[in-house]
Amino acid sequence: MAKLAVVTGARSYIGSAAARSLAARGWEQRTLTNRRGAVGRGALEIPAWPLQFRDRGALGEALSGAQALVSTYWVRYPHFGVDFDLAVENSRILFEAAREAKVDRIVQVSVSNPREDSPLAYYAGKARVERILRELGGSFGIVRPTLVVGEEDILLNNIAWALRRFPLFGMPGSGSYRVQPITLEETGEIIADVVESAEDLTVDAAGPEVLSFEDLVRQVAAAIGRPARIVHLPPWLALAVAKVIGRLKGDVMLTRQEYEGLAAEALVSHEPARGKTAFSAWIREHGRSLGQSYQSEWERHFRDLDLASQRASGPSRK
Ligand SMILES: NC(=O)c1ccc[n+]([C@@H]2O[C@H](COP(=O)([O-])OP(=O)(O)OC[C@H]3O[C@@H](n4cnc5c(N)ncnc54)[C@H](OP(=O)(O)O)[C@@H]3O)[C@@H](O)[C@H]2O)c1
Repeated sequence: MAKLAVVTGARSYIGSAAARSLAARGWEQRTLTNRRGAVGRGALEIPAWPLQFRDRGALGEALSGAQALVSTYWVRYPHFGVDFDLAVENSRILFEAAREAKVDRIVQVSVSNPREDSPLAYYAGKARVERILRELGGSFGIVRPTLVVGEEDILLNNIAWALRRFPLFGMPGSGSYRVQPITLEETGEIIADVVESAEDLTVDAAGPEVLSFEDLVRQVAAAIGRPARIVHLPPWLALAVAKVIGRLKGDVMLTRQEYEGLAAEALVSHEPARGKTAFSAWIREHGRSLGQSYQSEWERHFRDLDLASQRASGPSRK
């Protein structure tokens, strides 16, 4: 009998890679998503249900008959009252619905170095979601990616866009803080490995190369054939510049929390690398087309979102 997995966000970024890896291993799939179209070109056509948290019955229906749930659900920054606390509660609702629907295994896509006592709500929220999953009982896996690089990645693309567009690149702080990128496709493979494992696992998804953020920016510049005229700015000033650019684009380009996570080297793993592709090799091969246009988080995830469907209570939708 075919195995069935429900993957959130299979039309978006990491969910699309998880879906490709699972499909290659013979899994049938459904996705929970609010997108009509796909973010990139590589998303598979799979049956879709709305990613909503109000109607448990509908959520249960979408999950019924599945052996595995892969949750990539999260929010990049708080907006319109959709914040990290709500994302934690929505993750709980999703996990409980999966257990009620007798889904055997739940795999949560988290982030490297989550800590409940982190001053950064993104990382603290992720740690809370992990604890909820562990305490729920039943088979689980947790995959903690570092920085996932792919042609549809917002951060990498917008670094390239800024390098193409402006004569100078404003680096927040020293830029010597390190990152350990992993490719999108290897992240999808690690998620699929964890789905198929019988053990309760928590693993990092990180590539083999650790490099400074400044080096990463310089390699992006080289890949797109632009000079990297980097000016080091006090973080508050770089964030203020990013805020102005973000406003002009109707988006948030870089949040203070994202910068602080970078500066604290939260995107560096402390485990042996599972990914095999070095960032420098990947960017040389795939980086040329990055940054042709600005990639907006707001357009991807907020513009068409039915906000009521993201809250577990309130008047029900027709
Ligand atoms: N990208 C990275 O470099 C990276 C690194 C470390 C950890 N992670 C984690 O990996 C997971 C997947 O990340 P991703 O980059 O693939 O994210 P993504 O493309 O933004 O999608 C994640 C999922 O969350 C949903 N979502 C995103 N923003 C939302 C919002 N404002 N309201 C409601 N739903 C929203 C998406 O819905 P739709 O299906 O409707 O698009 C999708 O199902 C996240 O948990 C993220 O924290 C990512």
